[in-house]
Amino acid sequence: MAFSLGSHFPFLAAYWQPVLLAALAAAVVHLLLERRRARTAAARPAPWRDESVSESAVDPAPPPPAEKTAARVPYRPARLGADEMVRRAEQFYRELNGRRSVRHFSREPVPRAAVEAAIRAAGTAPSGAHTEPWTFVLVESAEVKAAVRQIVEDEERVNYEKRMGAQWVQDLAPIGTDWRKEYLTEVPFLVLAFRHAYGVDERGERFTTYYNEISCHLACGLLLAALHQAGLATLTSTPLNCGPRLRRLLARPDNEKLVLLLPVGLPAADCTVPDFRRKPLDKIMAVC
Ligand SMILES: Cc1cc2nc3c(=O)[nH]c(=O)nc-3n(C[C@H](O)[C@H](O)[C@H](O)COP(=O)(O)O)c2cc1C
Repeated sequence: MAFSLGSHFPFLAAYWQPVLLAALAAAVVHLLLERRRARTAAARPAPWRDESVSESAVDPAPPPPAEKTAARVPYRPARLGADEMVRRAEQFYRELNGRRSVRHFSREPVPRAAVEAAIRAAGTAPSGAHTEPWTFVLVESAEVKAAVRQIVEDEERVNYEKRMGAQWVQDLAPIGTDWRKEYLTEVPFLVLAFRHAYGVDERGERFTTYYNEISCHLACGLLLAALHQAGLATLTSTPLNCGPRLRRLLARPDNEKLVLLLPVGLPAADCTVPDFRRKPLDKIMAVC
C-alpha cells in the first residue's frame, strides 16, 4: 500500500514548510548556544584543573561494597568529662594555630618514620563509601626531587609570566612567592597527594569513587595537621599545570590527579612568614 503523508500526518502535510523552518531555526539556535557554552567554558579561569585525567569511571560501577560486607565491631571511644573535652579541644586549636606555611627550609634530615606516620594519619580520613581515593607519593631521592623542581620551575615561570594574570600575581605579592622553588631540592622529603578520579579494582575494572575530591582534601587536611603535630613544617602548594608531568614522572596511573605538592622538613634558621592574623570565631561561625 502506498504511503501518503496527507492521510497519516495531515497537519504535517498542510504545514510542512513552516514546520521545517521552525526545526531548522531550532537547530541553528541550539548550535549557536552550544558554541557559546563551549567558548565560555574554555575562557573560564580555572587553569588549575588537570584536564588530562578523566573525571569519572567510563562505565561507572559501584565501589566494592565495603560497608555492606564488613563485619560489625563495637565502637567505644573514651568518654571524656566536659572540662576535659574543652581542655583538649582548646589545646588542639592552639597547636593548629601555630601552623604556618613555610617557604624557607633547612637541609636538616628528619625521621622518615614521622612522615610515614603523618601519611598514615591522613589515610584515616573519611571517604565516600570508604573508597579511600588517595595516594601519597613520598619522594626522598635527590634525583627525583631535582626532576620535580625542574618541572615545577618550568611551569611556574610560564604561570607567573602568562597564565596567572596581573591580579593573581599582585595578590601573591605579600606572600613573596615567585617561580623559583629552591625548597623543592632542599627539603628532606616531598609528599605529593594524588586524588583517585575513579577507582580501579584488582581485575582492572573501574569503579566510582564518590566524592573523591572532598575525601582527598579531607585527607590532605589531616596530613597537614599531623605533620605540624610532629614538629614538621610544610607548604601547601598546588603547582599550576604541573599535574600531568608530575604524574608521569612519578609513574602514577591515569586515574590519579595531583592535588598537593608538600615539601616536608624543618624551617630554615632565618625563616620568616607573613604576619597574617586569622579570623576570630565570630567571623567564621554562625549560630542559629
Ligand atoms: C589550596 C591552596 C593552595 C596553595 N597554593 C600555594 C602555592 O602554590 N604556593 C604557595 O607558596 N602557597 C600556597 N598556598 C599557601 C597559602 O598561601 C597559605 O596557606 C596562606 O597564605 C595562609 O598562610 P598559612 O598557611 O601560613 O596560614 C596554598 C594554600 C592552599 C590552601
